[in-house]
Amino acid sequence: MKQNQEQSQVSSQHDVNSPNKWEADYERGTDGWDLNGPTAVFKRLAASGRFKPGSMIVLGAGRGHDARLFARQGFQVTAVDFSPYAAREMQRLAEPDAPVQIVQSDLFRLPPEFDINFDYVLEYTCFCAIDPQRREEYADLVARLLRSPNPVLGKPGGIYINLAFPLDTHKGGPPYAVSLPEIFTLFGKRGFSLLQREIPADSVAQRQGLEELLIFQASQIFS
Ligand SMILES: C[S@@+](CC[C@H](N)C(=O)[O-])C[C@H]1O[C@@H](n2cnc3c(N)ncnc32)[C@H](O)[C@@H]1O
Repeated sequence: MKQNQEQSQVSSQHDVNSPNKWEADYERGTDGWDLNGPTAVFKRLAASGRFKPGSMIVLGAGRGHDARLFARQGFQVTAVDFSPYAAREMQRLAEPDAPVQIVQSDLFRLPPEFDINFDYVLEYTCFCAIDPQRREEYADLVARLLRSPNPVLGKPGGIYINLAFPLDTHKGGPPYAVSLPEIFTLFGKRGFSLLQREIPADSVAQRQGLEELLIFQASQIFS
């Protein structure tokens, strides 16, 4: 029995669907994805004033650098991560003037009251972190979380902001390779329209040429 428990602990440390895998990376310091602050691409976007403050959910938020960035701009931010370490780090780094609701949860198990509740879904290196077999499920989730358009009131649908990385074709992961045609298909068939795509000049050096900023708008009514 004990041996079985140990075996399952070892295997869950390699299972991207389990918080144990991510917890182990944070504890060992093998969390090389962490930029120690918000990405310059989102800093520019947040400062542009193009998107007016509203409710935002950040999926796979890690230490919450990007969540706090948007909270500082007046967005009402909810940050989700299932790693207890990441949740503790978000609490440690919390800023009283930029409050973030920290939710330690598997993003695939968010409560129904989160549905149709957000003006924005934001993510960076989350799509590439989940099991690639769950990408359809992930796109369903984003579609469900975002506010639907309301043609009667003339209100547009919510916005999905994804700094898509890594745009290559390597085998294995995480990070698992990401392809733009796959993302366009996943979100296109759920009624999202592409508002913007941009190869950012201000990506961090090691990610230059490997990422693209994608901004979609939900244009289908979710029911
Ligand atoms: C590659 S890290 C990126 C963290 C952060 N976005 C950043 O850029 O620093 C992926 C994060 O997603 C979290 N994560 C992975 N799968 C998850 C899931 N199913 N539910 C909630 N969080 C998840 C991990 O715990 C980890 O913190």
